[in-house]
Amino acid sequence: MSSDRHQFLLFLPILPLFLLFLLLKWRAHRGTTTSLPPAVGGGWPLVGHTFAYLAPHPATSVGRFMSRSLARHGPIFRSMNLFGEPTVVSADAGLNRFVLQNEGKLFECCYPRSIGGILGKWSMLVLVGDMHREMRTISLNFMSHARLRSLLLPEVERHTLLVLRSWPEDRPFSAQEEAKKFTFNLMAKNIMSMGPNEAETEKLRREYITFMKGVVSAPLNFPGTSYWKALKSRSNILRVIEQKMEERMMADTTDKCKKEAGEEEEEEEDLLGWALNHSNLSKDQILDLLLSLLFAGHETSSMALALAIYFLQACPKAGDRTEEEGKRRDEIELGRLQADGVISETLRLGNVVRFVHRKVLQDVHYKGYKIPSGWKILPVFAAVHLDASLYDDPHKFDPWRWQSAKTTGSNFMAYGGGPRLCAGSELAKLELAVFLHHLVLSFRWDLAEPDQAFAFPFLDFPRGLTIKVHSVLYV
Ligand code: HEM
Repeated sequence: MSSDRHQFLLFLPILPLFLLFLLLKWRAHRGTTTSLPPAVGGGWPLVGHTFAYLAPHPATSVGRFMSRSLARHGPIFRSMNLFGEPTVVSADAGLNRFVLQNEGKLFECCYPRSIGGILGKWSMLVLVGDMHREMRTISLNFMSHARLRSLLLPEVERHTLLVLRSWPEDRPFSAQEEAKKFTFNLMAKNIMSMGPNEAETEKLRREYITFMKGVVSAPLNFPGTSYWKALKSRSNILRVIEQKMEERMMADTTDKCKKEAGEEEEEEEDLLGWALNHSNLSKDQILDLLLSLLFAGHETSSMALALAIYFLQACPKAGDRTEEEGKRRDEIELGRLQADGVISETLRLGNVVRFVHRKVLQDVHYKGYKIPSGWKILPVFAAVHLDASLYDDPHKFDPWRWQSAKTTGSNFMAYGGGPRLCAGSELAKLELAVFLHHLVLSFRWDLAEPDQAFAFPFLDFPRGLTIKVHSVLYV
C-alpha cells in the first residue's frame, strides 16, 4: 500500500506535463476534424432541391428556398442534390472570394451540361486550363482599355443616341426590349460589324431570343422542348457567323491590297477580324468564341440597363444627381464616370448574375466545415449583396452608399472575381454609364404599368418594363 502511494508520488511531478500533452493533442485533433456543412432537408426524388432553388422570385430578394435555408442553417449549407449533384451553397462573402480566387487550384468552373451543349465546347464559360486562358486573352485584348477609349466609346455613344432618338414621347413602350436591342446591336457591331438597322441583324436577334431560353432550360433534346429549339437556333446563328467568316476569308486578298494602299477597313476592328488575324484559333473555336461573347455580353448588360431604368424612376434624387453631374461634364471620361455609384448599386440590388457554378477539386476546410472534393459549390453573390450585416438597409436602392468607407468593394462580386473575373466588365460599365448619362439628360420617365424584375433564374421584367418618357431640355 505504502509502496503504491510511493509510486504515485513519483508520477505526481509529471502529471501536469501529461495533462498538457493530452490537452494539446485534443486541440490539434479538434483543429482538423471538420464536419460537413448543415444539410437542408426535404427535396424531391431525382431533382432534389433544384426546382426549389430556381423557383422564380423578385430579383431584389434571394428567394424562399435561400432565405429559409439561410435562416435555419446559416450562410454555408449543403444539399445532397442541387443540379443533380451534392452541393455546398455559400452565402459567405469570405468563402465566395476564396472560391473565386482559387480557380484552377482548389475549384474549377463547372456549368451544367445544358449550357455547354448550347454555348459549345469551346465557349469560354465552359473551358478550363490553357485553352480558357488563350480565349480569355483574346477577349481581354479585344476589350482593352485603349480599344475601349478609341473605338468602343464612340460606338457606344452612337448606338445610345440612335436608340434614345427613336423613343416616342408620352407613348408606352418596353424599356427592357429597347435595352436588349441596344446591347445586342452593339455586340453584333463589335463582333461582326453588323449594322443596327439591317434586316440580317434583326433576324439574328430573334434567333437569339429562342437560343437564350434554351440556355437555362433542362437539356431534354426532343422536338418541341426549349432545349431542342435553342439547339436549332444555335445552328442558325452559327450559320450566319460562319458565312461572315467565309466572306472575310474570301475578301482577305482584297483587304491586303487595300491595306497596302493605306486604306483602313472597318471589319479589321471587329472581333471576327481580330480573331482571324491575331489568333491561331480553328474555325469551330472562333465560332464558339463569338457566340459566347454575344451571349455573355448581351443578356447581362441589357438586364443591368433595364434594372437601372427601373431603380432610377423610383429614386428621382439619384436621377437628378446623375443629370447634374452629366451637365457639369464636357465629355464622358472613361473609368471616372459619376454614374459609378448608380451602376454598382443597380448590380448589387438587382443581381444580374446571381451565382456561379464551381466544382471542388480537393477537400477544403473552411470555418470548421469540410467541403469535399468532387462536390459542387455555388457561391451565391446575391445573398452576400443583400446581407444586412454587410449593407445597411440592403433592399433600398441607395447609390450614395458607395461613397461611404463602410461599403467595401471586396464583398461586391457582380462581375465575379479571380482568374475568371468578367472579361467585359469595363465594356459593361461603359455601356451603362454612357446610356444612363444621355438618358437622364434627355428624359424623365415613369412606369406605364406596375412591374418588377424576377429571377426565373435569368432576369426578366414580366411586363417588359413598360415606360412613358417626357423629354427634358437643358442648356
Ligand atoms: C453588367 C453586365 C455584366 C455582368 C453583371 C457580368 C457578370 C459576369 C460574371 C459574374 C462573370 C463570371 C462567371 C463565372 O465566374 O463563372 C462573367 C464572365 C464573363 N463575362 Fe461578364 N458580365 C457583364 C457584361 C459582360 C460583357 C459586356 C461582356 C463582353 C462583351 C462579358 C463577357 C464575359 C466573359 C467573356 C466572361 C467569361 C470570363 C472567363 O471565363 O474568363 N460580360 N461576367
